[in-house]
Amino acid sequence: TGTEPQPSSGGGVRTGTRAAIAAPHLRTDRWWLAPAVTAAGLLAFVLYSTWRAFADTHYYSAPYVSPFYSPCLAERCQTMHAGPNAALFGSWWIISPAIIILIFPLGFRLTCYYYRKAYYRAFWLSPPACAVAEPHRAYTGETRLPLILQNLHRYFFYAALLVAGVLTYDTVLAFRDTHYRWGHMGLGTLLFLLNIALIWAYTLSCHSCRHIVGGRIKHFSRHPVRYRVWGFISRLNAHHMLLAWASLVSVALADFYVFLLASGAFSDPRFF
Ligand code: FES
Repeated sequence: TGTEPQPSSGGGVRTGTRAAIAAPHLRTDRWWLAPAVTAAGLLAFVLYSTWRAFADTHYYSAPYVSPFYSPCLAERCQTMHAGPNAALFGSWWIISPAIIILIFPLGFRLTCYYYRKAYYRAFWLSPPACAVAEPHRAYTGETRLPLILQNLHRYFFYAALLVAGVLTYDTVLAFRDTHYRWGHMGLGTLLFLLNIALIWAYTLSCHSCRHIVGGRIKHFSRHPVRYRVWGFISRLNAHHMLLAWASLVSVALADFYVFLLASGAFSDPRFF
């Protein structure tokens, strides 16, 4: 009829070798909702955590230390329980102590398989959704700098294990009162417990962790313990996205709670 759409030479998925479909995509559902909500959620966390990390104040209220500032390595730490760690970086470190430690959880989340999907879609539109073409002409995947650095994820996983260990220690310390006497609990203790449970669940559900535990084995029957652990991690792994979000919210919540206490806006309800 002469009215059929002609192949475009626009590049990307619009080259002449692809089906000549004029419509940008054929999806009729609200495909943009997921990337839009993801972008809003990630942006909110980035803004909040940037403010808190650079604020350099209100991160300790006995017996709680904010997870953003733990372990508090700089000499200028205002925490009572930082102990010898506080002197590790000496007095030359003049910016917020959170900046030293946040590199590790940040690197872990930034290179996480789920978060990669999330921000590739939400911010780079690469692609924005299944069956919706991306605007870019060329696609090189994660084969070149800087995206090839995403391969560092497996190493960040080990760092994340250490961070989870430190936050576990902080949760144990939260079973004290403001005078550091043991055997007490406040609302903060519950929040810290919830946060550490979600942090461990997210960390252990990592794809790298699943591979470290169960990968490169030829016969599961010869490694019954690893097989069982792999089965457990695999079940957690199925909820990796949910755990990524839940632990992101809980860590921000724990930090915000410490901020409220430290700034005097709220006092910790004690149960015993
Ligand atoms: Fe998400 Fe490793 S894949 S934390």
